[in-house]
Amino acid sequence: MNLVSLLLTLGLTGVCLGYVYEEDLLYDSFPEGFLWGTATAAYQIEGGWNEDGKGESIWDVFTRIEGNIIDGSSGEVACDSYHKYKEDVALMKSMNMTSYRFSVSWSRIIPRGVGTVNQAGVQYYKNLISELKSAGIIPAITLYHWDLPQALQLQGGWLNSSVADWFEDYARVVFAEFGNDVKLFITLNEPKETSIQGHGTGTMAPGFKGIGDLTYIAAHNQIRAHARAYRLYQAEFAASQGGKVGITLNTNWGEPEEPNNPAHQEASDTFMQFNFGWYGHAIFKDGKYPEVMRRNIDRNSQLQGLNISRLPEFTPEESAMIAGSTDFIGLNFYTSNIVYPGEEDISTPSYFTDDGVKDYQDSTWYGAGSVWLKVTPWGIRSALNWITEEYGGTKDIYITENGFSDLQGNVDDLMRLYYYKHYLNQVLKAIKEDEVKVAGYYAWSLMDNFEWAMGYTEKFGLHSVDFTSPNRYLFTQ
Ligand code: NOJ
Repeated sequence: MNLVSLLLTLGLTGVCLGYVYEEDLLYDSFPEGFLWGTATAAYQIEGGWNEDGKGESIWDVFTRIEGNIIDGSSGEVACDSYHKYKEDVALMKSMNMTSYRFSVSWSRIIPRGVGTVNQAGVQYYKNLISELKSAGIIPAITLYHWDLPQALQLQGGWLNSSVADWFEDYARVVFAEFGNDVKLFITLNEPKETSIQGHGTGTMAPGFKGIGDLTYIAAHNQIRAHARAYRLYQAEFAASQGGKVGITLNTNWGEPEEPNNPAHQEASDTFMQFNFGWYGHAIFKDGKYPEVMRRNIDRNSQLQGLNISRLPEFTPEESAMIAGSTDFIGLNFYTSNIVYPGEEDISTPSYFTDDGVKDYQDSTWYGAGSVWLKVTPWGIRSALNWITEEYGGTKDIYITENGFSDLQGNVDDLMRLYYYKHYLNQVLKAIKEDEVKVAGYYAWSLMDNFEWAMGYTEKFGLHSVDFTSPNRYLFTQ
């Protein structure tokens, strides 16, 4: 038996890499007032895609194109929460949840993205909010969870710098209509995925392939749009409504392959800057991109014979508006990568090679139904600590998503239970032993739903859904 298989047998490879795969549990409790919730998103659960005056979104269009969704499905009906929202709230109540994170569909309330407001759409969310209120559940609204009105896409969508104006106008409607009852607003969900998958690899709506340039432009405009909505709330709503506005960023944790090697530690930091800092640095710090992104992308662009950098610059006025434009930090966290520094082939401009960091996932990590999702409980604690150190630890962190997928056909929750137990314990350790300010945790997801390009094949639900009805079930095994 060689050393690696011996270590594998003993379950110790992680120790060599600097982490313990399954740590002892900490027995303690979460702070008073900690929010416990589940999360969903409009396109993934609502259905009612053209009901009561709703306009088309980019996902209505993207799902119609053959080959875009693995099982050929769409969110036209999904969990039918447009009609079954009371059942959703009843499920949360029976779980003793204290909060619910859901998203508003922009084209349901402003069908063409700007202009006329659709009162029926507004009423749907008012009904949902009042149902939540009577169940004692605190609503948390995401303004944008990937379903841009198609009318705005036709004008360039996130690639058009006017999107910041459109988003501000939309945010004004959301704050004005719902802000008396809703005190937690998340502007954008995972802007990184809109940039990379929506405008880089083309695997998500609107399906553009521009990983070396469009990706950075979409990110730039999302940061500008976020800050505009935040400043709007401060100027027009904060005094009367007293709510909080933040943004949800997603990242994997980048674990250095050699934890004591400074070059690997630096690779880990670079990985985190390219994933989380891409948005976080400007918003939570100084209105600029992380230094390592500026340096690498400026240099690579020059080597690629370009006259200007592929990474845009904020104007001084924009930087001032963006810096500090948040009341809290939203984190979506699922998994980790092992990282190390590596020579990249930069002959083709790409976000994926601009970082100069190589990564992989250890083959011994337990897998979920989604290929990208490997179970790494220790990663969430490391990510929480990195965020706290990097941004000063003054703002509350909400874990706005965390969860585990299985595949169609599976009806037990054994792996899911393992996942939640160990991730939650690492969150508890971050709070109790590292003094990280985590204020709430939302499991993804309340129920199985439309998992974007994977259709209904991958299931993240705490409740199972039979999509032929679509009725909800709770499997307790
Ligand atoms: C993040 C996204 O916000 C959500 O929409 C998606 O379903 C989950 N991750 C799982 O992939």
